[in-house]
Amino acid sequence: MNIFLTGATGLLGGELLVELSKLKEVSKIFCLVRAKNNAEAKNRIATIFNLRNDFFDKNKVIPCIGDLLHDNLADLLSENKTLANVDTIIHAAANTSFSKIYNQLVEDTNIGGLYNIVNWAKKLPYLNNFVYVGTASICGSGVKNKIIYENEFPDKKTKHFVKYTYTKMQGEIIIQKELPVEKILIVRPSIIMGDSRHTTPRSPVILWALATLNALRLCPVNEKSKLDIIPNDYAAEAIIKLLFAKRKHQVYHISSGMNSHTTLEKLLVAIGPYYNDLPPFCFIPKSSIPQIKKWARGSIESHCELAKHSEYLKFWQSEFHKKQNLRIIFAGLEPYLEFIELNQVFDKTRLLQDTDIGTSAPAHEYVTNNIEYLKKIDLLEGAVNS
Ligand SMILES: NC(=O)c1ccc[n+]([C@@H]2O[C@H](COP(=O)([O-])OP(=O)(O)OC[C@H]3O[C@@H](n4cnc5c(N)ncnc54)[C@H](OP(=O)(O)O)[C@@H]3O)[C@@H](O)[C@H]2O)c1
Repeated sequence: MNIFLTGATGLLGGELLVELSKLKEVSKIFCLVRAKNNAEAKNRIATIFNLRNDFFDKNKVIPCIGDLLHDNLADLLSENKTLANVDTIIHAAANTSFSKIYNQLVEDTNIGGLYNIVNWAKKLPYLNNFVYVGTASICGSGVKNKIIYENEFPDKKTKHFVKYTYTKMQGEIIIQKELPVEKILIVRPSIIMGDSRHTTPRSPVILWALATLNALRLCPVNEKSKLDIIPNDYAAEAIIKLLFAKRKHQVYHISSGMNSHTTLEKLLVAIGPYYNDLPPFCFIPKSSIPQIKKWARGSIESHCELAKHSEYLKFWQSEFHKKQNLRIIFAGLEPYLEFIELNQVFDKTRLLQDTDIGTSAPAHEYVTNNIEYLKKIDLLEGAVNS
């Protein structure tokens, strides 16, 4: 198999790259990498392997400089003769930001960038598989408190909290329209957080939200809402198994499903023993967020709901020093709180039937394997990058 992989420098793509490179069935993996020159591109790839001392086979793994945002990307890839034998594309690159300020960039990357890859893919003589890494969250914010099945989406009428999920939904529609049905594999991971092994996770992204809620202690969210979370190693393994499987479907959830979902409460209880001397948790309704924002901008009326929790407001000021820091943290956290409240679980019967992967460990069981990493997460930096 000759693979072209995008997103290798990211959380999921990095795991896919390392695991695919170990397989004898895989001859070459060409990785689209943003870099100024070959040395920088090689260096970025080497970093992925170095994280856990994995073997970087330079004959097998070949960086290919390019940017999804460049209009001429399809032409550049077509002109690159070493790519002529590519038979499998795994498109895992995306702009995953929830922040409104990046809306245009998210759209350009996830839709414009996808078109660039698809336009090149259509000209490849030996293409067998186009794997599009989507997201289970394309169901948007309109469906709550339910088990969601693959065939219910994409639905153009669904509402989205963030541009990111909208663009990922559009991505699926583009793939279905532009590529032959038999070449398409769409995988929809749920929420990918940390790694189930005793190892360094590749990215702090969702762990950041957990670390932040743990540090706040006063959490404006329903702690009992079901959360469909999977570890990154499981997500990568599932995609690879599906790639080689006899598939009966085009679209697969990669999720915890009903047997191993978690809740914020269970996650916080699991990490609780590693944090001493912090106030007990207090969960308040999400509707308190505007009051929190008001407080962080100045002050709140003494009779409002939030004022009842003055001991936590004092704790926040001593822990986070400036109210401005809390404003930044809440701006980053708010979309995550919205997602938590949805109480969505994604059915994965298709994955279980068509592969032998089985169920992932629930996040509250494996999260303690990532505890040292979790403790070191810079909450402000994570908020700015979210
Ligand atoms: N993380 C989750 O919880 C989750 C859940 C469901 C689905 N997914 C999907 O899984 C895929 C991977 O997500 P992730 O969490 O691994 O994302 P990530 O860590 O943010 O990585 C994103 C990757 O995309 C690359 N990229 C972004 N813009 C690019 C551009 N203009 N040109 C070339 N490459 C570009 C990044 O390259 P640089 O290193 O150069 O920035 C990086 O390699 C995405 O399609 C996402 O929608 C993720």
